[in-house]
Amino acid sequence: MVALGGGCVTDVAGFAAATYLRGIPWVAVPTTLVGQVDAGIGGKTAIDLPEGKNLVGAFHWPVRTVIDPALLETLPERERREGLAEVVKTGLLAGEPLWQLPQPELVRRSASFKAGVCLRDPYDRGERHILNLGHTFAHALEAAASYEGVTHGSAVALGLRAALRLSGRPTAVVDELLSPKPVRVDRERAWRALGRDKKRGLVLLSDDGPKWDVQLPDEDVRRALDELIAD
Ligand SMILES: NC(=O)c1ccc[n+]([C@@H]2O[C@H](COP(=O)([O-])OP(=O)(O)OC[C@H]3O[C@@H](n4cnc5c(N)ncnc54)[C@H](O)[C@@H]3O)[C@@H](O)[C@H]2O)c1
Repeated sequence: MVALGGGCVTDVAGFAAATYLRGIPWVAVPTTLVGQVDAGIGGKTAIDLPEGKNLVGAFHWPVRTVIDPALLETLPERERREGLAEVVKTGLLAGEPLWQLPQPELVRRSASFKAGVCLRDPYDRGERHILNLGHTFAHALEAAASYEGVTHGSAVALGLRAALRLSGRPTAVVDELLSPKPVRVDRERAWRALGRDKKRGLVLLSDDGPKWDVQLPDEDVRRALDELIAD
């Protein structure tokens, strides 16, 4: 099976490939920036249920991921920004300003960073948790908004700002490139949603690189979350 499309297509097709005849080989050909630097890489496939996102899925690595940045020429600006949030996340994790590179190189380096992490931890048991940088907060905001009105990219941008603050690092890169705007969601609902993810710990940046499963006092995490929410 060949999956040609954005992250939605590669997730659904990959899941179909994981389950049809108990698993057939598949090839991912991602056509969005999110797909090329994130969704098409790493073997996670999933579909959503009415009860929540990605609730049914499987690890099923594509035999190949074919990435052609020229496919992005027709991508609307809105979708490009979604991908830029993941590129900034990857650059922060890699400790390199990948976002400054020309597009083909930016895609190549971001994709190879994710592939390296996933190949070292294919079943998400350790190092791969670093890919959640900013995403614990982002998921909480998206859930509190019932997945409407807050795009994943803008939630990730806010989440990256919170992760940088909690890591004691400047937020200028995120502010300048992604201009995150606080979202209007119910604070208690966001806090409850964050609680589900928080047990696993946060991803923060340190001088020795990213750290995962970091436990911080609730009041610090709550303050960081509250700063992302508009009154
Ligand atoms: N499996 C993973 O590891 C992983 C990682 C990140 C995201 N995801 C999933 O990926 C999905 C989001 O993916 P996405 O951001 O690619 O969104 P998407 O697949 O919905 O695509 C966004 C839009 O762009 C259009 N499009 C695709 N390629 C285009 C092109 N070359 N030119 C013009 N338009 C094009 C699509 O038709 C769609 O309207 C979510 O469901 C998310 O859960 C999965």
